Amino acid sequence: MKRKIIVTSDGSHSLEVEEWGETYHSIHGAIQESNHVYIEQGLMKFMNQEEIKIVEFGLGTGLNAFLTMAATIPNHKKIVYHSIEAFPLIQEEYELLTFPTLLSEFKEGEELFKALHQAPWNEDVLLHPQIQLHKLKATFETVELQGNDFDLVYFDVFGYQFQPHLWSEAIFKTAYNSLRQGGVLVTYACRNPIKRNMKAAGFTIEIVPGPPGKREMLLAYKSE
Ligand SMILES: C[S@@+](CC[C@H](N)C(=O)[O-])C[C@H]1O[C@@H](n2cnc3c(N)ncnc32)[C@H](O)[C@@H]1O
Repeated sequence: MKRKIIVTSDGSHSLEVEEWGETYHSIHGAIQESNHVYIEQGLMKFMNQEEIKIVEFGLGTGLNAFLTMAATIPNHKKIVYHSIEAFPLIQEEYELLTFPTLLSEFKEGEELFKALHQAPWNEDVLLHPQIQLHKLKATFETVELQGNDFDLVYFDVFGYQFQPHLWSEAIFKTAYNSLRQGGVLVTYACRNPIKRNMKAAGFTIEIVPGPPGKREMLLAYKSE
């Protein structure tokens, strides 16, 4: 997949898959979207815990991981962050991304963003005393995750119109099984077939307001 760097409306970078014209984030603002969907609607639900365990479907640029660290390190939370990715960015790509510059108040940001991308695959890495990272070089279709383990799933795969098979009951079942009772999956999308497949996998869904440029998004709960 050939991809190029683009600048979104809030000044933050994203990537575009050239053959599809599909971007890794909203063109209305990559940081704005990730903050709304994954941090405010997802992570903030668990900020009463000392330690939060997250698994992300699609590491991509690392923006969700980066914003998660920025939101939790100053609040003395511990994060266990697993992220699945089959087509990682190469050094020439991640070195051009300016997320740390835009979040200048996050002092360790520059160093941690680089460490995130340079971390080896398929092993636990202590990125920071509060951040344990495990990047999984695997496909969503074949990945094996620990069952009943995670508090939160960041489901950030490409759009339904390009990869409908990744929004299937089978993939949602993988996510569902990885969550503990009371865990939540959060995603930017809200199409009807997606809702149906989430329910078929066992989730209870909630529709909430989306980020600028998107009316609705989804939360999916593994009920207690
Ligand atoms: C929307 S982007 C992820 C955006 C990312 N969370 C970020 O903040 O930059 C979707 C990601 O899924 C990855 N991907 C696509 N198909 C995949 C598959 N079958 N298995 C694993 N990863 C896949 C892509 O390489 C891409 O990084």
